[in-house]
Amino acid sequence: MREGIPVDWQDVVSRFTMDAATEFLFGKDVRSLDAPLPYPSTYAAPTPFSGAGTEAPSVSGAGASVHPADRFVRAFLSALEATARRGRFLQSWPLFEFWGDKVKQHLTAVDEFIDPIVEDALREKSEKVSASVEEDNKRKEQVRDDETLLQHLVKFTDDHKVIKDETLNILLAGRDTTSCTLTFAVYALAEHPEVLKRLRAEVLSVVGPSQRPTYDNVREMKYMRAFTNEVLRLWPPVPLNSRCSIRPMTWKSMIAGEPDIYIPPRTRCLYSVLLMHRRKDLWGPDALMFDPDRFLDERVQKYLVPNPFIFLPFNAGPRICLGQQFAYNEISFMLTRLLQRFSGITLRQDAHPAAAPPPGVERSPYAVDGCERVWMRSHLTTYAKNGLWVEMEEANHE
Ligand code: HEM
Repeated sequence: MREGIPVDWQDVVSRFTMDAATEFLFGKDVRSLDAPLPYPSTYAAPTPFSGAGTEAPSVSGAGASVHPADRFVRAFLSALEATARRGRFLQSWPLFEFWGDKVKQHLTAVDEFIDPIVEDALREKSEKVSASVEEDNKRKEQVRDDETLLQHLVKFTDDHKVIKDETLNILLAGRDTTSCTLTFAVYALAEHPEVLKRLRAEVLSVVGPSQRPTYDNVREMKYMRAFTNEVLRLWPPVPLNSRCSIRPMTWKSMIAGEPDIYIPPRTRCLYSVLLMHRRKDLWGPDALMFDPDRFLDERVQKYLVPNPFIFLPFNAGPRICLGQQFAYNEISFMLTRLLQRFSGITLRQDAHPAAAPPPGVERSPYAVDGCERVWMRSHLTTYAKNGLWVEMEEANHE
């Protein structure tokens, strides 16, 4: 960036969340941030690394393929995309994979990474045989501060597959969602310099110019929380969700004069969190404007308190996201560190000619602030098609 070359921020944060998640889950950071960053497609790079930018967020500039960490990360992403494609065909997906399983082909690289880690954890456990059942139960109850999810799980089961599935499940749940929020947070900061200034002022006054944020700092930064919620409202990382009815029922229509809706039993009901979060009848006439203050001023009492289910980035009820606090902490930590170092962000979607949305999308009736400058897409989670290219101005701390 010092040389004036824009960077794909989406690529950077998806590496960051992968490294953070693998450290937390397995105690082994895959260090995907060590691999070279892709260059903008419009820039003639001096090395073979001239990245073309990618359709889905990825750690893969062309040059990144040489890095060993990248094998696992790429395979995981490809398996995720192939799994998401199955969702479109519902029960008939096996017909579309008659000649070969499109997920399995990517799993070898995933297994090569994770199997030895699980084996090591199980071996370590077998070496610490407990003297009695009581001692064993005590060990299960105690959770060390630095304990990884893997170390915790092996206390309860020796089943290699269960441990692998549980850890990969959390990697899937926690990584892309957080990376999406950080991507669109930086987009919002680039589009709203006055918000950036206010958020940065809060960071500098609560945390300081170079200190590490503590949990108390994160709790204290009220504008940070409101800002993050506004990003989650307008660009929810899980844009679509579904539930299946158990019993037959009728739903009251919210539109006056419209008949009630009958839902038969065992019916899959899809709903769009993205569209719900942008509805003027639920959020007020300024629903499409980016404004973190709506989570701080009288609009909270007016819209959110009487109807909390209008804000569902983490869903609600018995299957609410288990990592919500983890996510708020990780997002606040990263944004704090970013704003300590940088005082300005400029959007440079011209760095990838296909990153800006076509006119129909750009000016759709649901566009934020009347104009979307990033092309939003989703497989399971939301991402910016062809990346989020930005330039950042370094902060001057003299
Ligand atoms: C901004 C970040 C995040 C968002 C927007 C998000 C969103 C969601 C949503 C919408 C669900 C419900 C899915 C459903 O309808 O069943 C969910 C479930 C879940 N999330 Fe998150 N998530 C985030 C971060 C995380 C993190 C960091 C972790 C773990 C460290 C995590 C772990 C989970 C788990 C385990 C579930 C399944 C809960 C269950 O089914 O009982 N999430 N998340």
